[in-house]
Amino acid sequence: MIAEVARYNGGVLHRVTVLPGDGIGPEVIQATVRAVDATGAKIDWQWVELSGDLIERTGQSVPDTVLESLHLNRVGLKGPVATPVGGGFQSVNVALRKRLDLFANVRPVRSLPGVKTRFQDVKIDLVIFRENTEDLYSGLEHEVVTDVVTSLKVITRAASVRIARYAFDYARRNGRKKVTAVHKANIMKLGDGLFLRCCREVAREFPEILYQELIVDNAAMQLVLRPETFDVLLLPNLYGDIVSDLAAGLVGGLGLVPGANMGEKYALFEAVHGSAPDIAGKGIANPTALMQSAILMLRHLGEIEAAQKLESAIERVYAEGTTLTADVGGKATTEQFTEAVLSAMA
Ligand code: NAI
Repeated sequence: MIAEVARYNGGVLHRVTVLPGDGIGPEVIQATVRAVDATGAKIDWQWVELSGDLIERTGQSVPDTVLESLHLNRVGLKGPVATPVGGGFQSVNVALRKRLDLFANVRPVRSLPGVKTRFQDVKIDLVIFRENTEDLYSGLEHEVVTDVVTSLKVITRAASVRIARYAFDYARRNGRKKVTAVHKANIMKLGDGLFLRCCREVAREFPEILYQELIVDNAAMQLVLRPETFDVLLLPNLYGDIVSDLAAGLVGGLGLVPGANMGEKYALFEAVHGSAPDIAGKGIANPTALMQSAILMLRHLGEIEAAQKLESAIERVYAEGTTLTADVGGKATTEQFTEAVLSAMA
């Protein structure tokens, strides 16, 4: 379902909710909105405040203003929001995913030309599908007695089948050859066992796609040893979260890797990275990850040409290699990198 609000001169005007977030969020959001506007796609951006401060002030894990806008527009572009560690308010990311039933977290991880990594000679092109609504992220924790805590890991057939079908369906539609389900069913025989059974059942509906299973610790090692052999990865929530950052590291870091939270009704696009408090406000954050998330958003909106235009521009800037940000070995500021992308599109 896409947010189509009006037709203009034969094109479509899309209304999209923009949530700047914390730390480097507003910096990379600003850069990305400029880049998307320069593609020629017509977007009516609806800016809505979202930050850790706001959540603390309002006491709402997802402020009403954010939900109202997303209910209306159905598509959002989001910056990272800081979540307190070991206490404080519930993660707004987890809350949003549950409230909007954004059950699939999709993270394409691709080598970019010109980025120096430890895997210079191999081309990495994999897509991670992380279940986004349950597992240990259910937030069901309980202090049984002082110093004894239980955290419930919830795995259901409904959620497991849904994410598996989403991943296989994506593989089929995008000419992907292999899906690897990642689990720890040798230890969590019931929970991860159920996840795996659901993946196997769904795999039978897609006989043309090779289905493989890996225990998560082995998967971590194989990803480092032979990242080019992976295609589509299918994981429960927690493993998906960890493996995504590992995979981001394979292609040059968190500044590069995009993400999409997809549901039946809503779609929320955001980078894999967090608010990066260590570099916030310095104007040096890499906006590539969010720009790449915006490319996924443009495709979702049906703006295929605009998506292609932005993707080619980013690739050109990387291939040239003279205007890159510090996280990928360059000296450029967020602004200079963004200008380079805009010039590459002109
Ligand atoms: P982080 O992703 O913010 O930072 C990890 C490292 O990567 C830092 O050294 C940072 O400078 C670097 N980095 C991240 N994005 C970058 C970019 N675009 N350009 C250049 N360097 C970049 O992870 P961290 O420090 O664990 O988390 C900070 C905060 O972000 C926490 O409060 C966490 O809860 C929150 N967070 C929010 C997310 C979201 O809203 N989706 C996702 C992950 C974390």
